[in-house]
Amino acid sequence: LADRVRFPEFLSRTMTAEQAAALIPHGVNVGMSGFTGAGYPKALPQAIAQHAKSEHAAGRPYKINVWTGASTAAEMDGALAEAGALGQRLPFNTDPTCRARINAGEIDFIDMHLSHVAQHAWFGFLGPMSVAVVEVLGVTEDGRLIPSTAVGNNKTWLEIADKVILEVNTKPPTKMEGMHDIYYGTAIPPRRVPIALTHADDRIGEPYLRVDPAKVVAVVETHKGDRDNVFAQPDANSNLIAASIIDFLAHEMKMGRLPKEMLPIQSGVGNVANAVLAGLLTGPFENLLGFTEVLQDGMLDLLRAGKMSRASATSISLSGSAYRDFEENIDFYRERIILRPQEISNHPELVRRLGVIAMNSMIEADIYGNINSTHVMGTGMMNGIGGSGDFARNGYLSFFVTPSVAKGGKISCIVPMCSHVDHTEHDTQIIVTEQGLADLRGLSPRKRAQVIIDRCAHPDFRPQLQDYFDRAQRQGALHTPHILGEALSWHQRFVETGDMRA
Ligand code: COA
Repeated sequence: LADRVRFPEFLSRTMTAEQAAALIPHGVNVGMSGFTGAGYPKALPQAIAQHAKSEHAAGRPYKINVWTGASTAAEMDGALAEAGALGQRLPFNTDPTCRARINAGEIDFIDMHLSHVAQHAWFGFLGPMSVAVVEVLGVTEDGRLIPSTAVGNNKTWLEIADKVILEVNTKPPTKMEGMHDIYYGTAIPPRRVPIALTHADDRIGEPYLRVDPAKVVAVVETHKGDRDNVFAQPDANSNLIAASIIDFLAHEMKMGRLPKEMLPIQSGVGNVANAVLAGLLTGPFENLLGFTEVLQDGMLDLLRAGKMSRASATSISLSGSAYRDFEENIDFYRERIILRPQEISNHPELVRRLGVIAMNSMIEADIYGNINSTHVMGTGMMNGIGGSGDFARNGYLSFFVTPSVAKGGKISCIVPMCSHVDHTEHDTQIIVTEQGLADLRGLSPRKRAQVIIDRCAHPDFRPQLQDYFDRAQRQGALHTPHILGEALSWHQRFVETGDMRA
């Protein structure tokens, strides 16, 4: 550990994860590192889960509130949820055990725009933070921290927590040192100043995280890789969606609505997102830039192929094979990848200034272009809004994508009215399914509805949607026609029969 922790004062605070877990009392707010299955603490959550189980067995309560950057992994969210150790969780989760407990009403989940989390914490909106548990790759001679595979909200947690526990992970390569760009210029209003980032690949901060050494109460050594983010090969639907987007971008460039040098790209997570990135690999665009929150396999491929010159993100979330490539070619990638705090990677000011092209997946869209990214049948939490809102509202172009049907064709992802709205019609410019692409820019609600039904709905549901829209236009006000008593009947039918089809 001494070669990783070059600040002697911290070496004397080395202890086991179990000893460190005992420093976290019941009922407190704990900030942990971690963003999309990367850079999360590997040992402490397991030890906390064990501690919670022993406390429960002894008849004592034990729950903590856990705030992170975004999602983590089964060994963190899964272990804590399974042990009944989570009181509150924010701002994003993809773990199925944790999701089940959220939807059973056992965990208070707070779904937030990822760019808001740090500032809401500084403003005091979320309450005080007792402990920060942060994975780092090492400590410099002067006590600064070398960030890991995700920066997330670590800067803020280290600033606001009363105590800090460091997990020093010796697995990721130390050669990542220098890849990060931690910006310390944010302030609380009214004394905020513009963030001087004018190109996606600008560096505006420093490569290390600062911490007050007096706050560091424990150092725990781990040697473990991040979650393996396996991706299925893009299926036929993902490839069709990707092809529509790439054709559209090429057309926009031809029409002079998109600059020839292309604009920075944000891509959400998942298979459709990866298919779009794979499409860009063989597409006509060169010298691409990434300005996104999560760097996945697809962007690594673009960097390696020289199609993308640089990528800015807050986390690197890769499959096992892509991670090996990253490690083996770390000198190449260190020059091309910039990892920033999520308040900067997702900052609305920057997304708008840079003119980011935002591409995000959704659960459902309604005929007017409102988007549900989070709720299954209006009540069950899937993952959370993540960064989709940060990018969608402020992007130069904003795409929302989904296959037109889910669950073997029993659910239409284009519905009369969304059962929950995360992004309003005002934030949606282009909707794409495997059926086609609906360009909604400059269209009034009724025109949008017709384009979405014609281009994006599955043929099994298109007549049903057209019938709804036609009848809605024969009653009530005609700006955004609806039949209120029927607008959510498709969801109700699915809840009752397991099928939205009439
Ligand atoms: N109604 C009910 N369930 C639906 C549905 C709908 N309209 N559409 C999809 N689903 C289900 C799928 O059947 C699948 O269920 P399963 O896990 O039981 O198989 C699940 O939702 C995921 O769908 P999938 O088609 O595999 O898409 P995905 O993995 O690309 O995820 C989102 C789609 C919307 C859940 C995901 O992109 C997300 O969480 N987005 C919000 C956060 C975000 O946009 N972040 C962007 C910045 S990283």
